[in-house]
Amino acid sequence: MIVITGATGSIGRALVAQLAGQDVLAVSRKPADLGVRHAVGDFTAPETIGRLLSPGDRLFLNSSPFPAFAERLNEVIDLAAEAGVAQIVEVSVRDAAPGAALSAGPHGEVDEHLRASGVPHAILQPTGFMQNLLGEVRGDRFHGSWGTGGMNYIDARDIAAVAAALLTRPVGASGSYLLTGPESPSHEEIAATMTGVLGRPVSYVDLPVPEMAARLAGQGIPEPFATELATAQATLSRTGWAEITTAVEEVTGRPPRTLAAFLADHADAFLPAS
Ligand SMILES: NC(=O)c1ccc[n+]([C@@H]2O[C@H](COP(=O)([O-])OP(=O)(O)OC[C@H]3O[C@@H](n4cnc5c(N)ncnc54)[C@H](OP(=O)(O)O)[C@@H]3O)[C@@H](O)[C@H]2O)c1
Repeated sequence: MIVITGATGSIGRALVAQLAGQDVLAVSRKPADLGVRHAVGDFTAPETIGRLLSPGDRLFLNSSPFPAFAERLNEVIDLAAEAGVAQIVEVSVRDAAPGAALSAGPHGEVDEHLRASGVPHAILQPTGFMQNLLGEVRGDRFHGSWGTGGMNYIDARDIAAVAAALLTRPVGASGSYLLTGPESPSHEEIAATMTGVLGRPVSYVDLPVPEMAARLAGQGIPEPFATELATAQATLSRTGWAEITTAVEEVTGRPPRTLAAFLADHADAFLPAS
C-alpha cells in the first residue's frame, strides 16, 4: 500500500491522481473525497499516522510547516521504521539544513533524521513552487523583493510525478533529489510571460524589504515571518536558487513543465480583479 500524507495539498492531490489504479491510502486532518481510500491523520498526534502503517508499505511524507514540525515528523519516521515500512519519500526544500532560515531549518532536521533512520528513502528538495504565483498576482500586478536576479520555479505536479515514479518502482538506493523547473527567469521576465500567456498586461513591482514585509503583514502574515519572507526573496535569487537540475527528467523520463505551460493550465485562476 502507498500511504500519502498531505494528500489534500498541491503535491498530494496531483500524486493521488497520478497513482490511479494503485493501492493508495490518502491521509489528511479531515475527511476528504479524493476518489481513493482516505484516513484521518494529524502530524501533531504522530500515532494517528503511525497506526495507519503496515510492513512493506511505501510512505509519502509531506505536510506544510507547523510549530514543532521537525519533532512530530521525526516521530512519524520512527513509527514508520517500527512498522517495517519499505520506503519513505519525503518532501523537503532546496538548501534544507538544520538551523537554516524559514522552513529550511526544520526540513533539514527531518532530512537528517530520515537519513539516520535505516528506512530506505528519497528526499525531495524542490525549489519554489509555480503554484505560489497564483496567490501573488492581484489584478494587473504582483509585488516582491526579488530584485533582478533569476529565480527557479517548479510546477508541484512535477514533484508529484517524481514521487509517483519513486513510489511505484522497486525501492532503489536512498538519496536526495534537488528538483527544479526548466528555466530561471527574473520576476520582470515572469511578468512578461504572464502578459503573453494571459493576454493582458501584468507587471512586477519590486519593493525594498521593509515595504514588502509591511505588505505581507497587511495580508495577515505575522512578524517576524513577514520580514524573514521578504528578506528570503531578496537573497534567494542572488544565492543559487536559479540553478537548474535535470533530476525531474532523469526520474520521470520527461522534462519539467515550463512556466508558460503552468500559466496556460491555470489561466482561470489569474482572472483580473473585478
Ligand atoms: N511552496 C513552496 O514554494 C515550497 C518550496 C519548497 C518546498 N516546499 C514544501 O512543500 C511542502 C508542502 O507542499 P504542498 O504542496 O503539500 O502544500 P499545501 O498545498 O499547502 O498542502 C499542505 C498539506 O499538508 C497537510 N497538513 C498540514 N498540516 C498537517 C498536519 N498537522 N497533519 C496532517 N497533515 C497536515 C494538509 O492537509 P489538511 O487537509 O489536513 O490541511 C495538506 O494536505 C512543505 O513541506 C513545504 O515546506 C514548499
